[in-house]
Amino acid sequence: MKIYLAPLEGITGWIYRGALRECFGGFDKYFVPFIRPNQKGHLSSREKNDISPANNQGAYTVPQILTNNAEDFLRTAEKLEEYGYSEVNLNLGCPSKTVVTKGRGAGFLAYPERLETFLDTVFGECRIRISVKTRIGIEDGGEFKDLLQMFNSYPMEELIIHPRVQKDFYKNVPNLEAFAEALSESRNPVCYNGDLFSAEDYHRFHEMFPDVECIMLGRGVLSNPALAREIRGGKSADLTELRRFHDLVYAGYCREMSGDRTILYKMKEMWSYMAPLLEDHKKYGKKIKKCEKCAVYEDVIDEFFEKQQGGEKI
Ligand SMILES: Cc1cc2nc3c(=O)[nH]c(=O)nc-3n(C[C@H](O)[C@H](O)[C@H](O)COP(=O)(O)O)c2cc1C
Repeated sequence: MKIYLAPLEGITGWIYRGALRECFGGFDKYFVPFIRPNQKGHLSSREKNDISPANNQGAYTVPQILTNNAEDFLRTAEKLEEYGYSEVNLNLGCPSKTVVTKGRGAGFLAYPERLETFLDTVFGECRIRISVKTRIGIEDGGEFKDLLQMFNSYPMEELIIHPRVQKDFYKNVPNLEAFAEALSESRNPVCYNGDLFSAEDYHRFHEMFPDVECIMLGRGVLSNPALAREIRGGKSADLTELRRFHDLVYAGYCREMSGDRTILYKMKEMWSYMAPLLEDHKKYGKKIKKCEKCAVYEDVIDEFFEKQQGGEKI
């Protein structure tokens, strides 16, 4: 089974990915949150840091591009090739209104003719391999049949399917019927993504789809950074590992970002997913949310971890 880390914009940046790799590992590919090419073709400093080979050592890393403009895609892919990348991912899944109203991400799925012209150009001209990460439509999973036929015309590195439609955002449940159909019809290798939050979820999925050889994990990893290891039959995270993971992420943000507010915003977001792994998380979750200074935050975290020593939950 191949397991990939999903791109999660704002969370799984290079600092988070580095800490995850060092403490838990377990991923065959690490997808980078989307790069949005700008008109001048420059990458932002966040984007440069995220793809810099020095920040991704020892990890098979796949940058992702969010655009509906073939020239922008090709120019960015060329830049990525210069950085040493041999694979790039196209985002056809982002459901956010601001992206969708510009016909990008999942919004591009509403314009099949334009999408086909785009794919003709990028698959015809791009020198590095292209994978696609997609939702199954805008309104209704029935839309995927035609989209898949179109996708079948292109030699994708893989087709990563999150079987929700754009209007679902993250509500409802993945449409496994549509996924089953796509799996049997796709000429490209398929990777499944969606709502695998525990090893049990994975086993249930694997019983239903024994032929799927590749999964991508997103929010499940944010809630439990040892998830890939557990799926592979390894142990759950212990406290020492979690503490080390936290400390590496925190140290990275303190080093790379300025201002307590910015650093704490990132840490609060991480804890909003991860806190339930620990005892007494409601109380400490609130305390973390209230922190405005790093010095206070550090005390709260020390206390949170010290509290675990008695009644260990994990
Ligand atoms: C906060 C957040 C940020 C995300 N950022 C991206 C992104 O940059 N690119 C992308 O393709 N998907 C993005 N996604 C979608 C995830 O990669 C993934 O497809 C989705 O969360 C479903 O997988 P999961 O159920 O395992 O979390 C994001 C999702 C969330 C919740």
